[in-house]
Amino acid sequence: MEIVILRDAADVAEYVADCIERLVTARPDAVLGLATGSSPLGVYASLARRHRDAGLSFAQVRAFQLDEYIGLPPDHPESYRSFVARHFSDVVDIDPANVHVPDGCAADVTAACAAYEALMREAGGVDLQLLGIGADGHLGFNEPTSSLASRTRVKTLTEQTLLDNARFFGSIDEVPRHVVTQGIGTILEARHLVLIATGVAKAEPVARAVEGPLAAICPASALQLHPHATVVVDEAAASKLTLADYYRATFANKPSWQHS
Ligand code: GLP
Repeated sequence: MEIVILRDAADVAEYVADCIERLVTARPDAVLGLATGSSPLGVYASLARRHRDAGLSFAQVRAFQLDEYIGLPPDHPESYRSFVARHFSDVVDIDPANVHVPDGCAADVTAACAAYEALMREAGGVDLQLLGIGADGHLGFNEPTSSLASRTRVKTLTEQTLLDNARFFGSIDEVPRHVVTQGIGTILEARHLVLIATGVAKAEPVARAVEGPLAAICPASALQLHPHATVVVDEAAASKLTLADYYRATFANKPSWQHS
């Protein structure tokens, strides 16, 4: 796992946008894994700027979102489909038909989950998966004790996540309790995982994910199983990492031939 510690959220956003720009430039039909939450917002804003000012194109890119609420219609402003449309797909030139989201309104959600997995396989899998981390260490909507081998399926949100996400809705009672999320096993199949975390509130979950034991109680610790995982954090989110100096020295001395 590579831990990249940068000064602030703006630097984190530019660093991750650089990774995505390199990928999309080398492979215009790359498959991106898109995350929601506030953590990737700076990355999306930077990609939108690069599209507008420098012509970075996503015309051939395909994308798969991590998760979706159950029962929210796709055009609800807080559905994750709307979120990604607002911050990314509507402001770059990606073909909306190529942005896939787990179907939280399907009559048969289990069948829709299996179809989503099949679609990801047909696309050749995800090249770069963006990830945030929940206060309780969740990845996507894989709450603590999610199987590390799980696939796309229905999950029930914890009280903590309902509380955290209430800020996007009128009140906690309006946050859907059930969601569809790619499983940890699904996420681990992406070729490159890039987890973004900024701010002091993320310091503890980041430390548990990076330096704690590999355990389902902290789903993000599953990154330890991945051969190409990059954790990009600002100083505040890095503040509880025991080996922070080692990560800084490693990054500062990174050989130029090593991939990002
Ligand atoms: C939600 C999303 C996660 C995201 C998490 C953290 O629960 N399903 O994918 O990582 O929020 O959100 P934020 O980045 O706003 O802290």
